[in-house]
Amino acid sequence: MSALNSKALVAVIGAGAMGAGIAQVAAQAGHPVKLYDNRPGAAAQAVAGIDRQLGRLVEKGKLQPEARETISARLQPVEAIETLTDARLVIEAIIENLQVKQQLLQQLEGLCAEDCILASNTSSLSITSLAAGLQRPQQVVGMHFFNPAPLMALVEIVSGLATAPAIASTLYDTAKAWGKKPVHTRSTPGFIVNRVARPFYAESLRLLQEGAADCATLDALLRDAGGFRMGAFELTDLIGHDVNYAVTCSVFDAFYGDFRFQPSLVQKELVDAGRLGRKSGQGFYSYAEGAERPPAAQLRSQASAECCVVEGNLGALQPLVARLRDSGLAITERAGNGLLRVGDATLALSDGRLASQRAREEGLRNLVLVDLALDYQAATRIAISWSADTTAEAREQAVALLQHAGLQVTGIADLPGLVVLRTVVMLANEAADAVLQGVGSAADIDLAMCAGVNYPRGPLAWAEQLGVGYTLRVLENLQASYGESRYRPSLLLRRSAEQGANLHD
Ligand code: NAI
Repeated sequence: MSALNSKALVAVIGAGAMGAGIAQVAAQAGHPVKLYDNRPGAAAQAVAGIDRQLGRLVEKGKLQPEARETISARLQPVEAIETLTDARLVIEAIIENLQVKQQLLQQLEGLCAEDCILASNTSSLSITSLAAGLQRPQQVVGMHFFNPAPLMALVEIVSGLATAPAIASTLYDTAKAWGKKPVHTRSTPGFIVNRVARPFYAESLRLLQEGAADCATLDALLRDAGGFRMGAFELTDLIGHDVNYAVTCSVFDAFYGDFRFQPSLVQKELVDAGRLGRKSGQGFYSYAEGAERPPAAQLRSQASAECCVVEGNLGALQPLVARLRDSGLAITERAGNGLLRVGDATLALSDGRLASQRAREEGLRNLVLVDLALDYQAATRIAISWSADTTAEAREQAVALLQHAGLQVTGIADLPGLVVLRTVVMLANEAADAVLQGVGSAADIDLAMCAGVNYPRGPLAWAEQLGVGYTLRVLENLQASYGESRYRPSLLLRRSAEQGANLHD
């Protein structure tokens, strides 16, 4: 362990939302902390705010009153940057502007000791650029907290080209000692989380644009089948469309317009209209007083299901069979190609082809495709789509079967990869490319997505569970359907599939 000694002075510059949160985290970990802001009085105000936050923890019984006093006593607001000379670690959380941050780092280099670590909480600027031109660029490192810093566990430790490995590892160990979950990453656009998360928003926006279903239905599917805390529309309404759209544009530009990161016209229109989400009272949803969230679309079948036939291994859909059995259905199992038959209907897990295409290519009548679920035992809702020639009766039978097992069934337009499946494979694809390009290890990337944005499972672990070969096939089918480089599979997925290797190997 090379963590900074907990008695070492930590200086935090910028007493806004992030700086105050970071100062609180460091003080709670035992460090004396100096907080500086160039706006007179801002640091003192922030320290008073932190004390109130700690007071709330005391009220909730999560902190002893004496601990509140001790922690608050460690926090010292200062009005002059020259008072930070004895800091061992400086974390800047000032405005997101390259020149202003560079000037600040230059000034700090002149003020602080040679071995002082200069960390930046930037979420979008290059650590390499921030350090360029400094005398000691090896001391500069990214320490990217998530908002609110006292609550969010993830910290991305970002190394620029010149960052000394020992500095990154000290900061990693220090973040761990502060009770955080750090990950190592390189200074590349979006670091880990803001890069790998892009498809989460992008696929829902695209599905909406292509008329798959409405926002409430797509959100419900990501929550109730995908196990995500929120769907993409309610989440971007919360984040603010101006902020979320700006991050997408900056990542897209930074990757020289790679279509994987292409921003959405649907979201741009919201921004243009000033419908920024919760904060403006209207985004995809209305936040006007008394406004109600529209319900998710649901199919209801009058047919009854009593038995079904499972042909071969259903792959990731297999756990559904136990749920069907538990619901009292009679199940016959026989050899076959991974199909589930009920009445005239044939059900299968989507493989990224359109239902109509697959029905024709495989000669399947009345084909109904089923979406991926995080856990088919626990899911409360599932999406289906069907081929153009599937009869209404067959569809009713398929819905009745899923309803029998207690699932709410949502029908969506015939689009490749349905909702959860295409979102998950695209997340895994981006994560795989990030591993391939050395942005982070597979373990760190999965951890980052779970601890930073609360994903129910790391995208790479999810792809492994789905099967690396299957994930690759879904992406190939998506790419063939759209003919766009946006869906091109990562070489890492192809190589791992060829080698029969896992992504964490
Ligand atoms: P904020 O606007 O709430 O606070 C910034 C503070 O820095 C203000 O109090 C301002 O007076 C002060 N400041 C500006 N220029 C300064 C200078 N030259 N010297 C000293 N103080 C200065 O901003 P926020 O949201 O706290 O963000 C700060 C940094 O953290 C940015 O780099 C941002 O990209 C990054 N970040 C923000 C996250 C968020 O969700 N808000 C999440 C992760 C990182």
